[in-house]
Amino acid sequence: MYDYDLLIVGSANADLVIGVERRPGAGETVLGSDLTVHPGGKGANQAVAAARLGARTALLARVGDDAHGRMLLDSQWEAGVDTASVLVGGAPTGVALITVDPSGDNSIVVSPGANGRLTPADVRAAGSILHAARVVSTQLEIPLETVAEVARTLAPGSRLVLNPSPPQPLPSEVLAACDPLILNEHEAKVILGEARVGEEPEDWARLLLAKGPRSVVVTLGGEGSLVASSDGVARIPSVPVRAVDTTGAGDSFTAALAWRLGLGDSLADAASYAARVGAVTVTKEGAQVSFPTADEVAAL
Ligand code: RIB
Repeated sequence: MYDYDLLIVGSANADLVIGVERRPGAGETVLGSDLTVHPGGKGANQAVAAARLGARTALLARVGDDAHGRMLLDSQWEAGVDTASVLVGGAPTGVALITVDPSGDNSIVVSPGANGRLTPADVRAAGSILHAARVVSTQLEIPLETVAEVARTLAPGSRLVLNPSPPQPLPSEVLAACDPLILNEHEAKVILGEARVGEEPEDWARLLLAKGPRSVVVTLGGEGSLVASSDGVARIPSVPVRAVDTTGAGDSFTAALAWRLGLGDSLADAASYAARVGAVTVTKEGAQVSFPTADEVAAL
């Protein structure tokens, strides 16, 4: 019935990555490794992650008419993503400046570039592909008004997954369409407001659910994740591995979870599978280059 298991509507960035002994504080200069440039962006990452696992995947995004844009399109093609809806031009390709420390943790600054020009009109023009996808997944490196248009344009019976990253307060029409809303502790605090920071993750999950999403997944890094719906709240354990670089792990987790939900998994089963995908991702450097195949996940 659906041509695509998953449509990603989101960002595509060139990731400019430097390894550092310690990520710099305000006013500080530190020396780092040689610069490496990888394809990235939360949307493009999710598309590659899903396709590499075997999902029939399409990407709706905008890149610049430049070398970074061509690198990003090459990476999508190699993974098998349908890029017919990737728009080209209007601004330079988005860029992410990333520092990674020896623990694998990162700091990221994004210049949205062309991502900021992905408009609600672009979503309306892509209505046929939106209606051909079982699950649609989006993030907040594109304008919020564009995400709201995605929520409005969904086909009846299809499912919206939203990772509100980088976080900002969400309108109720967007929250109500999420199934699930997937977010980490930092993002949860922004969506809930600082007044709620002292409470336990189980409490955040219940408070987030009360804001309207049909389900919520709170990722807790090494502590695993929490899934919450009208069936209750459950903890999903993490898979212990030695982290080298956490860049893109949230994106591969989200893509895997969205794909498995579309296949009919329960929220808990989908989150358990996604935890394995995220675990393999952090054992390798970079974002898209670190995403596993289904065989690599099975071998973990
Ligand atoms: O989630 C990781 C991604 O965030 C990076 O690839 C970078 O481009 C930023 O969008």
